[in-house]
Amino acid sequence: MTTIVNVLAVLGGLLATPHLCRIASFVWLYFLRPSSIRQYLHGPQDSTYAVVTGATDGIGKATAAELLRNGFNVILHGRNETKMKKVVEELRARVPERKDADVRYFIADASAGGQDFAKLVEPYRDLHVTLVYHNVGGGDMSGQRLDERTEENIHSLVNLNALFPLFLNRALLPQLRRSAKSGPVLVNFVGSVAGDIAPPRLAVYAAGKGFLESLTRGLDNDEQFFDGPTGVRYCYLAVAAVHSDNHEAPIATSFTTPTCERFAKCILDRAGCGRRRVAPYWVHGMMQYFIREVAGDGVVDKASAEQMQGLITQAKKGI
Ligand SMILES: NC(=O)c1ccc[n+]([C@@H]2O[C@H](COP(=O)([O-])OP(=O)(O)OC[C@H]3O[C@@H](n4cnc5c(N)ncnc54)[C@H](OP(=O)(O)O)[C@@H]3O)[C@@H](O)[C@H]2O)c1
Repeated sequence: MTTIVNVLAVLGGLLATPHLCRIASFVWLYFLRPSSIRQYLHGPQDSTYAVVTGATDGIGKATAAELLRNGFNVILHGRNETKMKKVVEELRARVPERKDADVRYFIADASAGGQDFAKLVEPYRDLHVTLVYHNVGGGDMSGQRLDERTEENIHSLVNLNALFPLFLNRALLPQLRRSAKSGPVLVNFVGSVAGDIAPPRLAVYAAGKGFLESLTRGLDNDEQFFDGPTGVRYCYLAVAAVHSDNHEAPIATSFTTPTCERFAKCILDRAGCGRRRVAPYWVHGMMQYFIREVAGDGVVDKASAEQMQGLITQAKKGI
């Protein structure tokens, strides 16, 4: 009898170990690990830059403000120059302690093909860039299936969510490797939980995010093996709902849906954590654990379909 109890105890311990390690790593990542964002402030004094795409609203704008607050100069990207100029003024007002910070920008429609990426980054070629946030992206709430969409609409979605970050990153790489000679460099692709669950009517958007996740691992391996390590690392940020006024169907702020400002702080806190995929906000981290490893596909698909139906209806009513 004692032997059986001992065997069961050992078995229980063995089965519990991975879960205990996971809980410990979760607590460390979100509640104990000190921020290491300042390790990316290196190179010539006061002249370290971060690039943020889609920086005129939502998560991108809040991330730009947080980067300024943490001592970085920023190179922002947007599609509307009038809005961008207002955002630059707003950022300066929000972070008055960095009134001498260098805030630059470039304008490009990320959903349009045929960009000259070398020309876009040419003015910033000599700058010491150590952080990149490929944040631009988005889906639509039109509720259309694949065959109801025009080819042009599909090309726009693929450009916006996959090809623009891919080619912009290609154009930035030589200078990122140069910056990495004096310290770590991190490239972040802003992803989405949609890439994991692929809700109905968001298939192309979700596939774009899946592309970014795979790209993250491949490019990280590229920089580490054969001629590496070069010091350039990659991370896929797994984002669930975040409130943005810019959305067709904004989701109200709640425990599971933080404001962009709160979320941007989480993004910077997770920089340099050593993971190639991370959910910046701890509640999203827990949600993703249940979605990916506990709930079955059937439950997840049904729940995401119900939520999509609500969002599409909300977008159609314009509320
Ligand atoms: N918020 C969420 O719930 C959520 C959830 C999962 C993933 N994400 C991901 O997080 C990232 C940011 O989302 P967000 O919610 O912060 O979006 P957002 O508030 O709508 O802001 C998007 C930003 O990208 C810019 N942008 C959009 N289309 C563009 C284009 N064709 N060319 C150039 N710039 C363009 C917008 O410019 P304008 O200011 O001119 O509109 C804005 O600066 C996206 O990659 C999104 O997929 C967000």
